[in-house]
Amino acid sequence: MLLACPGPASETDSAPVAEGSAQVQSLEAWGLRPGGEATVALGPSPSFLLPAANLEPQRKPDFYAGKALSTQPWIRAPATTDARDGLGPIYHARSCLACHVKGGRGQSAGDDGLAPATLVRLSLPGRGPHGGPVPEPVYGTQLQPKSTSLSHQLRGRAGADAYDDEGVPAEADVRIRWKARSFIYPDGSALELRAPELEVSSLGYGPMDPGVRMGLRHTPALAGMGLLAGVDAADIERLADPEDLDGDGVSGRVNRVWDPESASMKPGRFGLKANQPSLRVQVAAALNGDMGLSSPVFPEQPCSANQPRCLAAPDGNDADGFEVSEALLASMVDFVASIAVPKRRKPHDPMVLRGQALFDAVGCADCHVARYVTVRNHALPHLASQEIWPYTDLLLHDMGPELADDREDFEATGREWRTPPLWGAGLARAMHARVGFLHDGRARTIEEAVVWHDGEGRASRDRFAALELDDRRALVAFVRSL
Ligand code: HEC
Ligand code: HEC
Repeated sequence: MLLACPGPASETDSAPVAEGSAQVQSLEAWGLRPGGEATVALGPSPSFLLPAANLEPQRKPDFYAGKALSTQPWIRAPATTDARDGLGPIYHARSCLACHVKGGRGQSAGDDGLAPATLVRLSLPGRGPHGGPVPEPVYGTQLQPKSTSLSHQLRGRAGADAYDDEGVPAEADVRIRWKARSFIYPDGSALELRAPELEVSSLGYGPMDPGVRMGLRHTPALAGMGLLAGVDAADIERLADPEDLDGDGVSGRVNRVWDPESASMKPGRFGLKANQPSLRVQVAAALNGDMGLSSPVFPEQPCSANQPRCLAAPDGNDADGFEVSEALLASMVDFVASIAVPKRRKPHDPMVLRGQALFDAVGCADCHVARYVTVRNHALPHLASQEIWPYTDLLLHDMGPELADDREDFEATGREWRTPPLWGAGLARAMHARVGFLHDGRARTIEEAVVWHDGEGRASRDRFAALELDDRRALVAFVRSL
């Protein structure tokens, strides 16, 4: 990392801020408004489904239309409601919010091993089309554990055998088993951890290539996505230090990924390995890979050339050949972009303030970079020139062997992950009980997430672990206040 993070204590240092951008606001404003003017106060049962506080009234109907499209379940084609059919034929979930619960992170696997909000990505080693992952020849790049066929939908119910039709098989059953682990602090106290073990069974299309690699992806939260889209690419590039020239053990690299819209390589920003160039492509990829819906960005069905029954199934395409039209896609993208950032809780509590100083002191802020000012020419005017505090550098970091999934994704190696934003992380527990942090949802608490940091995060993790118990608690209290 070449630039030190200017915490609010050092306002005079220059944060990575676009030239000519808005004036730096006061410490008070930071404490209260991490999403700038887009920040909203959330009540005791929070959800990330509120519009940015400064969303223009004339844009609100679009926000709520996009929210409805992201909430209501899609159905199989053909159906009489033309606008909502086309699910599958193979898919993972029926709506965006089935995984992004209340716009937040997904539910991690329970005792039954079912993890409704954790995807399985697939690939063979090497570089595929445009330098991206090499698809498994039959199953593609993502497992779709569900099918719209009646035999699959009625599975386990009396009389289901009668429907053992020519329907499209689901790709597999997926379960996660947790293996207990523990972390011992230098002061001798222990923290119980869990690591996932993936079980894939009932393969619907025969065995997979023996070289296949599988990576778990747990659903992240959607707060502030449009503001992250507004961080200037030059600011991110400035933070990158791929060769670790400053020798602090923290490098940070920009992923370079294929953008199907401009048909060119672009810096990656969204997704847990920063493998998507824009919010629009990210949303279209979710429609396609997670729900089996075609759109102007990804017009194809989620079937590979080796899944003929899947390809032959009826689709829900409109006259233009899409299940999700340009207008519907644009409305969902604008909805996701305009989701508000929550106001901080107890930002001036003495313990939180102590934790904040420790966060900087142990080096968390080397990657979880606090502050930016969004670009002036943002496509959504309410998100332009906002001073924001997301706590991410949006760069890839090697997080060590335990967190590795051994899957390359464009420039990202199997050990690299994008630093996730921390705003809203402290609200996860209030949104549902099955919280999962980190890319596979293994961490149940912020403390667990921190002690899993290894690789480039190792030195910072060790400094955290060496703190007195009260200081560790203060640092976690600070993250929970975000
Ligand atoms: C099956 C569960 C699931 C469904 C359904 C789903 N998502 Fe996601 N979403 C995820 C996961 C998992 C990731 C991380 C994917 C990755 O990095 O490979 C993600 C990532 C994202 C991101 C990027 C977040 C970031 O921090 O970069 C956005 C935005 C997003 N989803 C929006 C949507 C929208 C909009 C829909 C509906 C069209 C949707 N998702 C449907 C699970 C889901
Ligand atoms: C070298 C860069 C780096 C440093 C230093 C670092 N982090 Fe992280 N952090 C990451 C990355 C990358 C991830 C995602 C890892 C994964 O998903 O497997 C992450 C994940 C997290 C998460 C989970 C967030 C989520 O949405 O799941 C928390 C909480 C967190 N870090 C807090 C901290 C704290 C506190 C410190 C200081 C003790 C710290 N980090 C230091 C890069 C870093």
